[in-house]
Amino acid sequence: MNGAQHVVIAIDGPAASGKSSTAQWVAQQLAFRHVDSGALYRAATAAQLRRGTGEESWTEEEVCEAARKVRLVPRGTSFTPLIDGQSVDEELRGLEVTKHVSRVASMPRVRDWVNDRVREAARDHDVVVDGRDMGTAVFPDATLKVFLVADPWERARRRLVQQLGRSPTDEEIAEETGRLVQRDARDATQTVQAKDAILIDTTYLTQEEQVERIVALVKAVTQRDSTTSAVDDDSGPG
Ligand code: CDP
Repeated sequence: MNGAQHVVIAIDGPAASGKSSTAQWVAQQLAFRHVDSGALYRAATAAQLRRGTGEESWTEEEVCEAARKVRLVPRGTSFTPLIDGQSVDEELRGLEVTKHVSRVASMPRVRDWVNDRVREAARDHDVVVDGRDMGTAVFPDATLKVFLVADPWERARRRLVQQLGRSPTDEEIAEETGRLVQRDARDATQTVQAKDAILIDTTYLTQEEQVERIVALVKAVTQRDSTTSAVDDDSGPG
């Protein structure tokens, strides 16, 4: 169990590996909260894009200042970033933000800012957190760490189904696969699989199956931890 004595489930993995939707679903099943760290990187990027200055001239200081307009607020069993108090869900998933987010995420002070927001959100709840480095940089003592991977073509296909609401053509998938692979490369340094993470390849799994697997793992680990602490209590003086 982590130092905060709350359960923390860390789900990491590359772009479009299904982390956020899986994390949200797992959180709902377990009555935990879900915190999406990627949404914070996207919100900092959107806030900076709103300033309208050319990307080449962006400084870390400027992006951190823009990020001050972002608040992470509870919404249902999850949290959502607001910019200047307004909901920005659509903007965050848009092409412009997706194109620039890796650059913003490579800035150490932006990473500190995101990590502080995620830890704050996790302070008072059992949580499922998702991102690239939740099980390493942010919650090294997480109760359970999962690293989700999937074949790039399948990741691209799923992302397009989500965006277009229909079956994409092979050409569309090929194009999206190219973009994903490029983003994987730009995100490589910040995407870290923890040594003690359980690797799940979701290429041939349905979303339901991957959620079931993770929920079963959480139950096994939390049961084992409570048995271990009961044994520890018994063995004390007394
Ligand atoms: O959903 P998808 O995997 O496409 O992206 P996301 O989770 O919304 O993350 C968007 C971007 O934020 C990534 O491409 C990374 O550049 C960055 N990110 C990161 O660096 N570290 C995290 N813990 C989460 C996201």
